[in-house]
Amino acid sequence: MATETSLSDVFPLGSRLDERGRLEIGGCDTIELAKEFGTPAYVVAEDDLRARARAFTAAGRNEGHEDFHVVFASKAFPCTAVLALFAQEGLWCDVASGGELHLALNAGFAPERLVLHGNAKSEAELRMALERGVGLIVVDNFDEIERLGRLMAAGGRAGAGEQEVLVRVTPDVRGETHEKISTGQADSKFGFSVAQAGEAFARVQSADGLSLQGVHAHIGSQLLGLDPFRVEIAELAKLGGFPVWDLGGGLGVRYTADQPPAPAIEDYVGALVQAAHAHAGGAQRRLLIEPGRALSANAGVTLYTVQSVKQNVSRWVAVDGGMSDNLRPMLYGAVYEAHVADRFDGTTHCRLAGKHCESGDVIVGETLLDDPRPGDVIVTPATGAYGFAMANNYNGVPRPPVIFCRDGDARVVVRRESFDDLTARDVS
Ligand SMILES: Cc1ncc(COP(=O)(O)O)c(C=O)c1O
Repeated sequence: MATETSLSDVFPLGSRLDERGRLEIGGCDTIELAKEFGTPAYVVAEDDLRARARAFTAAGRNEGHEDFHVVFASKAFPCTAVLALFAQEGLWCDVASGGELHLALNAGFAPERLVLHGNAKSEAELRMALERGVGLIVVDNFDEIERLGRLMAAGGRAGAGEQEVLVRVTPDVRGETHEKISTGQADSKFGFSVAQAGEAFARVQSADGLSLQGVHAHIGSQLLGLDPFRVEIAELAKLGGFPVWDLGGGLGVRYTADQPPAPAIEDYVGALVQAAHAHAGGAQRRLLIEPGRALSANAGVTLYTVQSVKQNVSRWVAVDGGMSDNLRPMLYGAVYEAHVADRFDGTTHCRLAGKHCESGDVIVGETLLDDPRPGDVIVTPATGAYGFAMANNYNGVPRPPVIFCRDGDARVVVRRESFDDLTARDVS
């Protein structure tokens, strides 16, 4: 049946409903994808990832700042195929652990394009970063400066010169977002307070083998207004002139069509670069930004299959995934939308439940679906960030595959976990 339903920008670029009303992602029919690869499955439109990467890079160039770099916050989608795609697109990469560092190097990022974060970096992680030649280490606390200086004094970078360092500062700026993803407030677990920043700079400068390059701040995630970023930049400028500013990530995205559109990538980058120029008169040679979800969230959807439908007080539609593939609703009440993948004009009030043994395992608290029945394929858009990253095996559920779609071709870039994978680490 032909349908006039149009898709919002919550869905990946290039998504459409075909003449039968079936959702296509990257030119691939989602009903066929569910048949071929099973569900739950993360489905990613490859061209969407590339388009967003290019939009960020072009926006920096258009603002006339040559030494501007887009650093993908790999925590948003730490999957080799995604990382390799962004490496090919010329992005840099933010890693926050030895494991993320391993993934980024394995995916092909040049070490000098890596930025190492973390509020509790271990000695082993710091040593690994020095040995692999990571471009920038963002120091978070005095213990780490001491540890890093000690490792450098002991020959840390194997004759490769000084280690370039940024100091992470929490500028006491609050963006409007969930408290669990707000990081810029004074009493944050991340970074140095503004009052401590001077002491941090001095200690880096007097430590062996460290070269202080600049400052870093990340004030929070899912920020839908640009003013907090401008305030962040004004606060950073008060700390003095540095050649490198890393302004963090945090640009919000649209998770549901009834949420207002997020700021455009061009407007966000424009606001940041212009504020940086206004406050520091172009003193910073190098500007970095670290988008995570703004690069990947809307590139991905998750496919599920309905297992049961029951009418209690609400109509409960239970699918074959849930908090093991998307923890965000459970973690901080994140809101998503859902559709039957081949019948988008839903009018039945439903609650979309996961299969896990927690009452809180509800993927979408309130949604309109078209008379869902067991066997129907359900799609939740905007799941390309922090879903795969936070996936887990609760209730012994194997983690889903990642399917890349492009021009009608689908390929598995991460296979589905097997039951054998669940016991693979057992020693006896
Ligand atoms: C230091 C840092 N940079 C960037 C990001 C990416 O945030 P977002 O995905 O909201 O852009 C995070 C998220 O936690 C972060 O901690």
